[in-house]
Amino acid sequence: MLIYYSDIGDLNSMCGIVGYTGFRPVVDILLDGLEQLEYRGYDSSGIAVKRESDIKVYKAIGKLVNLREEMKKHSGEFEKSTTGIGHIRWATHGAPTVLNAHPHTCNHGNLVLVHNGIIENYKELKAMLEKEGCIFKSQTDTEVVAHFIAKKYDEVKDLTKAVRLATKEIEGAYALCVMHNDYKNTIVATKRNAPLLVGFGEGEFLIASDVPAIIKYTKKAMYLSDNQIVTVTPDSIKLIDKDGVELPQKVELLPWEPVALSKMGYKHFMLKEIHEQPDVIRNNLVGKLHTASEPIVLNEVKLTKDHLKKLNRIQIIACGTSLHAAMVGKYLIETFCGIPVDVEASSEYIYRRTTTDSHTLVIGVSQSGETADTLTAIKQAKSKGSHILIITNRPDSSMAREADSLISVNAGIEVSVAATKSYIAQLMAFYLLSLYMAEIKESLDVSVIQSIKNELMLIPQKIEQILASTDEIQKCARKYSGTKDFIYIARGINLPTALEGALKLKEISYINATGYAAGELKHGPIAMLDDTLPVLSILMKGTVYEKLLSNSEEAKARNARMIALTNSLDPKLDDLFECIIRVPDVQEFLSPIIAVIPLQLIAYYIAEFLGKDVDQPRNLAKSVTVE
Ligand code: M6R
Repeated sequence: MLIYYSDIGDLNSMCGIVGYTGFRPVVDILLDGLEQLEYRGYDSSGIAVKRESDIKVYKAIGKLVNLREEMKKHSGEFEKSTTGIGHIRWATHGAPTVLNAHPHTCNHGNLVLVHNGIIENYKELKAMLEKEGCIFKSQTDTEVVAHFIAKKYDEVKDLTKAVRLATKEIEGAYALCVMHNDYKNTIVATKRNAPLLVGFGEGEFLIASDVPAIIKYTKKAMYLSDNQIVTVTPDSIKLIDKDGVELPQKVELLPWEPVALSKMGYKHFMLKEIHEQPDVIRNNLVGKLHTASEPIVLNEVKLTKDHLKKLNRIQIIACGTSLHAAMVGKYLIETFCGIPVDVEASSEYIYRRTTTDSHTLVIGVSQSGETADTLTAIKQAKSKGSHILIITNRPDSSMAREADSLISVNAGIEVSVAATKSYIAQLMAFYLLSLYMAEIKESLDVSVIQSIKNELMLIPQKIEQILASTDEIQKCARKYSGTKDFIYIARGINLPTALEGALKLKEISYINATGYAAGELKHGPIAMLDDTLPVLSILMKGTVYEKLLSNSEEAKARNARMIALTNSLDPKLDDLFECIIRVPDVQEFLSPIIAVIPLQLIAYYIAEFLGKDVDQPRNLAKSVTVE
């Protein structure tokens, strides 16, 4: 994940926000909403409720259960409260302490707010406020906003106006929910470069960073655009722009069902999500791949056939696991369509002069559709006139709203921080897209296209075969779980698989795992090898099989503990590898889909064996909404 190391105080970046005003007891709604946002990752939480004559704030560090316990201790204090705001915080700078947890208040405690994002000019604002006598209790940038809006409020005596005036001078990214003691049941909310939506109920409104927090109560919602300010009471709503001009409200019906985030009997969401992958593939093929002889249907791609044929460059931008899917995409598009493809981490793309223009197709890949670096990169490319194609699991996300073409990958909500089924779904999008373009461009032999399509349809069963017998994988995971370092090697289309396998292992087990292009071993990394180091070779049959076998021999000659992940039955592998994980046979082009499954499982079983917090690994968040 990307952490923005700067000297700013508190990034509060991947936090979750919930607000409610209506007729129901507010605390349960806020706690339930925060629970639905737990998947984003957090280290502390807090709630503020409006009472008859004051606003009361409750906070706890650690898991949400601690806040629940805290609330129990005070039950009786907020029975009649029907308006409040809540927050889960993911700290980067400023430790996860009660003082740093949100909500934050101004000095006299009348104004209270929760915040997701970063305030870039917080130091300047803080210096100015301190001169005026403000006393700061926390190390966060958020507290500055509370004092600053309170100062504006003291000047204008109007909460919406105070928020509007203050945010004009605030730089950075934010989603904010603000309450003031002078208002009985009012919440003012606004956002810039951070997601926020308002749910419409009967006599009630909900505000949240993400749909799961509100979907139990309403499917009618409005996504706020940057710099819009909304003011809600149980029976009124007003939307204005940054100049105070009233705006029409665009209410949409959320394409979501209120499903309980259940593990369905699995020990962890990650394991459940790994097991969902065959169905994710089936879902992605429905309506797009009918039979091998019929062309791929991809109405989502809005480029004209003529434009597609003339495309001479594609850029794909993404982060983390999505970046690995993009790397497979590059291999497929270049091989099938002959179009040069650059793949770049979004965080790198945005800080240099890029040569994107209207002749370039820019593809953004993101599970969440909210990753700040990718969103910024997309906006940058869009401003240069490129056609923007977004591949995402969230068709309601900020990135989706920037898209000229949108491929929604239908993986269903992914709760575990470690991406698994969304990766498989992104791969499917690239298979379909590359074959679709190859058919239009007539750049690949029809018989090759047909053989790939035929085998694509069989892939779900092959994954089911792997998932049905994981004994060897579990044995292997247990055997190597004591290691401090782990190396994955591969070549060609499976290099991204090696990188993804290593990322999975390091993020949930904290073992130092690295993926290498096997040919690069001898240019440096081979120096590390000895009899303590496991080296997992992704040895799928095809163009680079023999080459990778030689690289594995080189590693073995340095006494490394060799593991093979292979679809080969070659008996000579038995001498070379101390552990062999066999997967069903598959043609090379499709091997990344099959090969990644045991790697996800190895990471899972090692982390589980080590007793790690598999679904919510330390320091990570599901949605990385800050650069
Ligand atoms: O939501 P996105 O796909 O844009 O997220 C990008 C990365 O933060 C994400 O893929 C991350 O690397 C995964 N959680 C790793 O499993």
